[in-house]
Amino acid sequence: MPVSRPLFVTLEGIEGCGKTTQISRLSTFLTRSGVAHKVTREPGGTPAGEEIRRILLTPRDPALTPLADLLLYGAARAQHLELVIEPALAAGRTVLCDRYRDATAAYQGFGSGLPLDIIDALHDLPGLNRRPDLTLLLDLPVATGLERARARQTSDGDILTRFEEATLTFHGKVREGYLELARREPSRFVVIDAAGPPEDVFERLRAPLAMRLGLREGSDG
Ligand code: TMP
Repeated sequence: MPVSRPLFVTLEGIEGCGKTTQISRLSTFLTRSGVAHKVTREPGGTPAGEEIRRILLTPRDPALTPLADLLLYGAARAQHLELVIEPALAAGRTVLCDRYRDATAAYQGFGSGLPLDIIDALHDLPGLNRRPDLTLLLDLPVATGLERARARQTSDGDILTRFEEATLTFHGKVREGYLELARREPSRFVVIDAAGPPEDVFERLRAPLAMRLGLREGSDG
């Protein structure tokens, strides 16, 4: 089905909110609907970005400072925008991105206390100033998200390590930060209840995405 224009869509949420599962379901839905698209993630999405991801997610003592964190997320993002996101949009493909700049505001800003002005200033730079057209925020109580993510720990050592170091309070601030960002930009954000069975959550995500892409309701089986 033809789409009026490609959209830059981001998925956001706290740890364990189910973004990764849902993004692959959304991708299947777009394929079945004939929507050319690219699935990607941050930090990552390019070879250099994946290397930066390893630096960012490796626990270290002393830890990276919030500013060092911000600049590394920004470096990976600049690379990702220029090499992946912009070319895909220019080629008429919708982009589904697992985390983007709202993650920086939520984690480095609301979570770690870096002033939002600094984060905004970085994202005003040419090469970093692309805003998403639509942001799907998967919202979940922190305890539920952490429990879900812990259940995956045997297959994902990097999540386990992060949780040993991160407190419930920190993730609470991140969740509240995301909700605050959504309140500030209600036309860009759709807040989705991420509790319950994944198929129910998928239906909650599919409807706003289909609407924004101008797809006929019920075009997917
Ligand atoms: P993921 O587990 O969803 O792939 O995300 C990796 C981690 O990176 C997650 O703990 C959130 C964090 N993150 C930030 O702190 N700031 C950012 O800008 C991004 C993109 C991710």
